[in-house]
Amino acid sequence: MMSDGLPAFDIARNGAFVRDLAPHLRVHHCLEEGWLFPLLTGRLPGHGETTVNLLRLKQEHMEDCDAASDLGDHIRHVLEDAGDVQAERLAYQTRALFRSLRRHVAFEVEVIFPLAERLLTADDLLCLSHAYDRSEVADAAYLLRH
Ligand SMILES: [Fe+2]
Repeated sequence: MMSDGLPAFDIARNGAFVRDLAPHLRVHHCLEEGWLFPLLTGRLPGHGETTVNLLRLKQEHMEDCDAASDLGDHIRHVLEDAGDVQAERLAYQTRALFRSLRRHVAFEVEVIFPLAERLLTADDLLCLSHAYDRSEVADAAYLLRH
């Protein structure tokens, strides 16, 4: 993990990835919250456990996005003023964010995606696929602008 390499981590070369993480996460979150989660709740109306899990995932999306924005701001500051690298703070922020992201994705892979495979129809999956394609275009457009 890149945070393990701090303070030797080459921030000028690799910092852009972390700096731009929040906008990429927002695209991912919009896809799940705008398409996948509503499809699942539509197939399981009134299913308490799934509703609770999806609410928790939405909360994690907000927390991870806030953490990624804070980290991006820190990286941006370091890139603009290379003499002010707070390596320990940067390493802590990066480890905390990626630990949270790994835990979030692991839950989605273990619980949410199998649920989607069981419940969603071919039309649902086609809608998701189109939404994913559009989100990839939006993400690519963001990268071209920055
Ligand atoms: Fe997610």
